[in-house]
Amino acid sequence: MTNIVLYQIPSSEIEFLFHGLNHPYYWNPAHSHLMRWDLRLTTTDMAIASDPLTEIADLPGDIILDGLLDDGIHSKLCHQIVNAFREQRNQTLYLVGDRFDCPHKLFPFVNIKQWQLPDSVTIANFLKQKNVYCDAVYRAALGLYIGELNNVLQMYASFQGEGLASAIADYKIRKLQGRGITVVPQPDCHAAGLDVLDGILAEITDLLKPEAEIAGLQFPRGTILIGPPGTGKSLFAKSAASRLGLPLLCADWAGLISPIPGESVANLRALLESAEASAPCLLFWDDYDKAFASADLSKDTGEEKKLAGMLLTWLQDRTPPVYTIVTLNRINQIPPELKRRFDRTIFVDLPHEGARHDIFGIHLLKYCGAIPNWSDRDWKILISEYGECTPDEIGKAVYLAAVRSYRQGRTRQITIDDLLYQRKQFTPANIANPAQIQSIRNNSKFALKASSDDRSKWRVEPDPIFKTMLGR
Ligand SMILES: Nc1ncnc2c1ncn2[C@@H]1O[C@H](COP(=O)(O)OP(=O)(O)O)[C@@H](O)[C@H]1O
Ligand SMILES: [Mg+2]
Repeated sequence: MTNIVLYQIPSSEIEFLFHGLNHPYYWNPAHSHLMRWDLRLTTTDMAIASDPLTEIADLPGDIILDGLLDDGIHSKLCHQIVNAFREQRNQTLYLVGDRFDCPHKLFPFVNIKQWQLPDSVTIANFLKQKNVYCDAVYRAALGLYIGELNNVLQMYASFQGEGLASAIADYKIRKLQGRGITVVPQPDCHAAGLDVLDGILAEITDLLKPEAEIAGLQFPRGTILIGPPGTGKSLFAKSAASRLGLPLLCADWAGLISPIPGESVANLRALLESAEASAPCLLFWDDYDKAFASADLSKDTGEEKKLAGMLLTWLQDRTPPVYTIVTLNRINQIPPELKRRFDRTIFVDLPHEGARHDIFGIHLLKYCGAIPNWSDRDWKILISEYGECTPDEIGKAVYLAAVRSYRQGRTRQITIDDLLYQRKQFTPANIANPAQIQSIRNNSKFALKASSDDRSKWRVEPDPIFKTMLGR
């Protein structure tokens, strides 16, 4: 019997495999001769013509053959492996590849191994040894192999600190895109007025530190964000990813669900596997209720039911640090058992006065280059006129005011009057349909609020009758 190992290992880590073996032989399709590792690779005088697996049959020792599995383990290769197993060779054969599926019929003949990702302490030590350790670089480096990380550090040798962290994060995103996963684009602006959510980001940051692993603290599962459309739920998920320097993988029901039997489940499995492989990362289910609105989870059939069940199990069992963010409009549209899998349910309401001021600030900065120096009185009028507006409506009004001022020859000069004019051009969704927002609020009474009480100077004490009417 020959000892045969099918080793799933990234090309960047093969050198570490050399270190662990006893002067192994090595070959890949780019070599005309067999190579040997002895602190470095040298060529032997044994030529390999076309069939390495047979040609090296009489050679004793550890032999690594790379690239044979790249095109899949087809029938001929399967037979060659089984034959090699039966031949009583005095060797251990390592067939290595980045990704491969081992056919079931090979299971009795081979040992399947997978190269493991380094743990957080190993990464931290490696970065310290390279003199590039800081929190941001460390977070970006999590989820990479050491050899891979070493190559990336060499590629960006002149980078340090935040610059290096974002170069590593970009590298990870490029790697994911290579696997056909949607990586959500950068946010169009910072999300203002969501201070409770900002606190959660700080918590995630702390829980990604090596100390948290040593303290035995589990990485959190994720958050459900509920609230009316346009309140910044998706924006928060995007800006969370960019602030944490982690990739944001987007799960899309429409893309997952397929009419071909079994394919939806395979799609979801592939997505979850990729999320685990790119951990730490954020997995983002935008407008999650759209899928569940149609799924009747009390029935035993249906593709959605199967997917939902699979997702529930995964949320329960997954170990790599994948933080799941789910956004939805109404909490009663998702099954309670799903809700229980998340650490928190957070309600994103319409912005209070202080938040409205900050949201205007962010959008004005985008179009004017600076926040205009308006009097407090003007600000108060503006904030009050945009009461019951969503951040999305505010952002759009600022954009339209910028367009109008540009067309009137006042580029980058938005006035209070421009914004008051824009306010008259639309009816906020929540004034057009107050019952909807009230029902969302009623259903979210027990959820944590995304923003804490307004303590800014813009705060206006609402009339108690009005307050009751709005359900606040
Ligand atoms: N908190 C916020 N601060 C600044 N702008 C915001 C905020 N929330 C939303 N916006 C603006 O509205 C747009 C749409 O918001 P989005 O996050 O898609 O809403 P939701 O997902 O809650 O429906 C954003 O791209 C941004 O321009
Ligand atoms: Mg959204």
